[in-house]
Amino acid sequence: MLTIGAERKEDIPSIREINLQAFGQEDEALLVERLRNSPSFIPQLSLVAYENGRAVGHAMFTHLKIDAGSGSIPALGLAPVAVLPAYQNQGMGRALIERGINDSREMGHEIVIVVGHPEYYPRFGFKPARAAGLECLFPVPDEAFMVLELTVDALDGISGTVVYPPEFHPCDFSPPKADQS
Ligand SMILES: CC(C)(COP(=O)(O)OP(=O)(O)OC[C@H]1O[C@@H](n2cnc3c(N)ncnc32)[C@H](O)[C@@H]1OP(=O)(O)O)[C@@H](O)C(=O)NCCC(=O)NCCS
Repeated sequence: MLTIGAERKEDIPSIREINLQAFGQEDEALLVERLRNSPSFIPQLSLVAYENGRAVGHAMFTHLKIDAGSGSIPALGLAPVAVLPAYQNQGMGRALIERGINDSREMGHEIVIVVGHPEYYPRFGFKPARAAGLECLFPVPDEAFMVLELTVDALDGISGTVVYPPEFHPCDFSPPKADQS
Protein backbone atom coordinates (compact mmCIF):
# COMPACT_ATOMS: atom_id res chain seq x y z
CA MET A 1 0.00 0.00 0.00
CA LEU A 2 1.30 3.46 -0.98
CA THR A 3 1.12 6.33 1.50
CA ILE A 4 2.61 9.83 1.37
CA GLY A 5 3.65 11.94 4.34
CA ALA A 6 5.95 14.75 5.39
CA GLU A 7 9.45 13.55 6.23
CA ARG A 8 10.09 12.45 9.79
CA LYS A 9 13.46 12.54 11.53
CA GLU A 10 13.77 8.77 11.19
CA ASP A 11 13.30 9.03 7.40
CA ILE A 12 16.45 11.11 6.89
CA PRO A 13 18.83 8.17 6.20
CA SER A 14 16.28 6.62 3.80
CA ILE A 15 15.86 9.92 1.96
CA ARG A 16 19.61 10.10 1.45
CA GLU A 17 19.66 6.52 0.16
CA ILE A 18 16.70 7.13 -2.19
CA ASN A 19 18.45 10.12 -3.75
CA LEU A 20 21.79 8.31 -3.98
CA GLN A 21 20.25 5.32 -5.72
CA ALA A 22 17.87 7.25 -7.98
CA PHE A 23 20.53 9.61 -9.29
CA GLY A 24 23.56 7.32 -9.02
CA GLN A 25 25.59 10.15 -7.49
CA GLU A 26 25.76 12.12 -4.27
CA ASP A 27 24.89 15.62 -5.56
CA GLU A 28 21.13 15.47 -4.99
CA ALA A 29 21.43 13.78 -1.58
CA LEU A 30 23.74 16.60 -0.52
CA LEU A 31 21.37 19.19 -2.00
CA VAL A 32 18.55 17.77 0.14
CA GLU A 33 20.73 18.03 3.23
CA ARG A 34 21.72 21.63 2.48
CA LEU A 35 18.11 22.61 1.81
CA ARG A 36 16.89 20.92 4.98
CA ASN A 37 19.28 23.11 6.97
CA SER A 38 18.38 26.31 5.14
CA PRO A 39 15.71 29.02 5.44
CA SER A 40 14.20 27.69 2.19
CA PHE A 41 13.12 24.45 3.84
CA ILE A 42 9.40 23.76 4.25
CA PRO A 43 9.03 20.69 6.49
CA GLN A 44 5.49 19.88 5.32
CA LEU A 45 6.67 19.86 1.70
CA SER A 46 9.55 17.43 2.03
CA LEU A 47 7.40 14.46 1.12
CA VAL A 48 8.12 10.77 1.44
CA ALA A 49 6.37 7.93 -0.38
CA TYR A 50 6.07 4.77 1.71
CA GLU A 51 5.30 1.39 0.18
CA ASN A 52 4.03 -0.87 2.95
CA GLY A 53 5.75 1.41 5.43
CA ARG A 54 9.13 1.47 3.66
CA ALA A 55 10.35 4.86 2.39
CA VAL A 56 10.84 4.44 -1.37
CA GLY A 57 10.42 7.92 -2.83
CA HIS A 58 11.03 11.57 -1.95
CA ALA A 59 10.09 14.97 -3.37
CA MET A 60 11.02 18.38 -2.03
CA PHE A 61 9.39 21.77 -2.56
CA THR A 62 11.38 24.69 -1.13
CA HIS A 63 11.15 28.47 -1.15
CA LEU A 64 12.70 30.49 -3.94
CA LYS A 65 12.10 33.94 -5.37
CA ILE A 66 11.37 35.50 -8.71
CA ASP A 67 13.26 38.74 -9.07
CA ALA A 68 10.75 40.86 -10.96
CA GLY A 69 12.76 44.06 -11.00
CA SER A 70 10.23 46.10 -9.06
CA GLY A 71 10.34 43.54 -6.25
CA SER A 72 10.60 39.89 -5.54
CA ILE A 73 7.78 37.40 -5.84
CA PRO A 74 7.69 34.29 -3.67
CA ALA A 75 7.56 30.93 -5.40
CA LEU A 76 8.47 27.32 -4.76
CA GLY A 77 11.11 25.17 -6.41
CA LEU A 78 10.44 21.47 -6.90
CA ALA A 79 13.75 19.61 -6.54
CA PRO A 80 14.81 16.96 -6.24
CA VAL A 81 12.31 14.17 -6.96
CA ALA A 82 13.61 10.64 -6.54
CA VAL A 83 12.20 7.13 -6.45
CA LEU A 84 14.23 4.00 -5.67
CA PRO A 85 15.01 2.28 -9.00
CA ALA A 86 13.06 -0.86 -8.10
CA TYR A 87 9.94 1.23 -7.47
CA GLN A 88 10.10 3.54 -10.51
CA ASN A 89 7.31 3.66 -13.10
CA GLN A 90 4.73 2.55 -10.56
CA GLY A 91 3.17 5.92 -9.87
CA MET A 92 5.29 6.90 -6.85
CA GLY A 93 6.64 10.03 -8.53
CA ARG A 94 3.17 11.03 -9.63
CA ALA A 95 1.72 10.48 -6.15
CA LEU A 96 4.50 12.57 -4.54
CA ILE A 97 4.24 15.43 -7.01
CA GLU A 98 0.44 15.58 -6.99
CA ARG A 99 0.39 15.56 -3.19
CA GLY A 100 3.02 18.30 -3.10
CA ILE A 101 1.11 20.42 -5.59
CA ASN A 102 -2.14 20.04 -3.64
CA ASP A 103 -0.50 20.76 -0.29
CA SER A 104 1.36 23.77 -1.73
CA ARG A 105 -1.87 25.20 -3.07
CA GLU A 106 -3.64 24.65 0.26
CA MET A 107 -0.79 26.43 2.03
CA GLY A 108 -1.35 29.45 -0.19
CA HIS A 109 1.61 29.13 -2.54
CA GLU A 110 0.96 30.30 -6.10
CA ILE A 111 3.90 29.40 -8.34
CA VAL A 112 6.14 26.32 -8.63
CA ILE A 113 9.31 26.17 -10.73
CA VAL A 114 10.98 22.98 -11.85
CA VAL A 115 14.08 22.26 -13.91
CA GLY A 116 13.63 18.70 -15.06
CA HIS A 117 12.58 16.12 -17.61
CA PRO A 118 10.46 17.87 -20.27
CA GLU A 119 8.59 14.61 -20.95
CA TYR A 120 7.57 14.15 -17.33
CA TYR A 121 6.48 17.39 -15.68
CA PRO A 122 3.94 18.71 -18.24
CA ARG A 123 1.53 15.96 -17.15
CA PHE A 124 1.19 17.86 -13.85
CA GLY A 125 0.46 21.13 -15.63
CA PHE A 126 3.99 22.52 -15.82
CA LYS A 127 4.63 24.63 -18.94
CA PRO A 128 7.74 26.25 -20.42
CA ALA A 129 8.83 29.04 -18.10
CA ARG A 130 10.66 31.23 -20.61
CA ALA A 131 7.56 31.46 -22.78
CA ALA A 132 5.75 32.56 -19.62
CA GLY A 133 8.20 35.45 -19.13
CA LEU A 134 10.71 33.91 -16.71
CA GLU A 135 14.47 33.61 -16.97
CA CYS A 136 16.89 31.43 -15.05
CA LEU A 137 20.20 32.55 -13.56
CA PHE A 138 21.99 29.43 -14.75
CA PRO A 139 21.98 28.00 -18.28
CA VAL A 140 19.10 25.63 -18.79
CA PRO A 141 17.38 24.43 -21.98
CA ASP A 142 14.00 26.04 -22.69
CA GLU A 143 12.14 22.76 -22.53
CA ALA A 144 13.58 21.76 -19.13
CA PHE A 145 12.77 25.05 -17.39
CA MET A 146 9.10 24.89 -16.40
CA VAL A 147 6.55 26.66 -14.25
CA LEU A 148 3.20 25.74 -12.75
CA GLU A 149 0.56 28.23 -11.66
CA LEU A 150 -1.27 27.01 -8.54
CA THR A 151 -3.91 29.71 -8.84
CA VAL A 152 -5.57 31.01 -11.97
CA ASP A 153 -3.38 33.65 -13.63
CA ALA A 154 -0.74 33.57 -10.87
CA LEU A 155 1.84 34.66 -13.45
CA ASP A 156 -0.24 37.38 -15.02
CA GLY A 157 1.80 40.55 -15.34
CA ILE A 158 4.89 38.86 -13.91
CA SER A 159 8.19 38.58 -15.69
CA GLY A 160 11.56 38.18 -14.05
CA THR A 161 14.41 35.94 -13.08
CA VAL A 162 14.07 32.86 -10.95
CA VAL A 163 16.61 33.07 -8.15
CA TYR A 164 17.48 29.71 -6.66
CA PRO A 165 18.86 29.94 -3.11
CA PRO A 166 22.61 29.50 -2.59
CA GLU A 167 22.14 25.89 -1.50
CA PHE A 168 21.71 25.07 -5.20
CA HIS A 169 25.11 26.54 -6.03
CA PRO A 170 27.52 24.89 -3.60
CA CYS A 171 30.51 25.59 -5.82
CA ASP A 172 29.90 29.32 -6.13
CA PHE A 173 32.13 31.08 -3.69
CA SER A 174 34.07 34.26 -3.57
CA PRO A 175 37.70 33.76 -2.77
CA PRO A 176 38.78 35.53 0.40
CA LYS A 177 39.95 39.06 -0.22
CA ALA A 178 43.70 39.42 -0.43
CA ASP A 179 45.21 40.63 2.79
CA GLN A 180 45.73 44.34 2.20
CA SER A 181 47.59 45.06 5.39
C1 LIG B 1 11.72 10.67 -12.61
C2 LIG B 1 11.13 9.89 -11.44
C3 LIG B 1 11.09 10.75 -10.18
C4 LIG B 1 9.69 9.52 -11.82
O1 LIG B 1 9.10 8.79 -10.78
P1 LIG B 1 8.35 7.42 -11.10
O2 LIG B 1 7.67 6.97 -9.86
O3 LIG B 1 9.33 6.49 -11.72
O4 LIG B 1 7.32 7.90 -12.22
P2 LIG B 1 5.76 7.63 -12.33
O5 LIG B 1 5.50 6.17 -12.08
O6 LIG B 1 5.00 8.62 -11.57
O7 LIG B 1 5.55 7.98 -13.85
C5 LIG B 1 6.05 7.12 -14.83
C6 LIG B 1 6.36 7.95 -16.06
O8 LIG B 1 7.55 8.72 -15.82
C7 LIG B 1 8.38 8.60 -16.93
N1 LIG B 1 9.77 8.74 -16.52
C8 LIG B 1 10.42 8.03 -15.59
N2 LIG B 1 11.71 8.43 -15.53
C9 LIG B 1 11.84 9.41 -16.46
C10 LIG B 1 12.94 10.18 -16.91
N3 LIG B 1 14.18 10.02 -16.40
N4 LIG B 1 12.70 11.08 -17.89
C11 LIG B 1 11.49 11.22 -18.43
N5 LIG B 1 10.42 10.52 -18.05
C12 LIG B 1 10.61 9.60 -17.09
C13 LIG B 1 8.12 7.20 -17.43
O9 LIG B 1 8.52 7.09 -18.79
C14 LIG B 1 6.61 7.10 -17.30
O10 LIG B 1 6.00 7.75 -18.39
P3 LIG B 1 4.58 7.29 -18.97
O11 LIG B 1 3.60 7.47 -17.83
O12 LIG B 1 4.34 8.25 -20.09
O13 LIG B 1 4.75 5.87 -19.35
C15 LIG B 1 11.91 8.59 -11.13
O14 LIG B 1 11.90 7.78 -12.29
C16 LIG B 1 13.34 8.82 -10.71
O15 LIG B 1 13.62 8.88 -9.51
N6 LIG B 1 14.27 8.92 -11.66
C17 LIG B 1 15.68 9.12 -11.35
C18 LIG B 1 15.93 10.49 -10.75
C19 LIG B 1 15.37 11.62 -11.59
O16 LIG B 1 15.62 11.68 -12.79
N7 LIG B 1 14.61 12.54 -10.93
C20 LIG B 1 13.95 13.63 -11.57
C21 LIG B 1 14.87 14.75 -11.84
S1 LIG B 1 14.05 16.02 -12.80
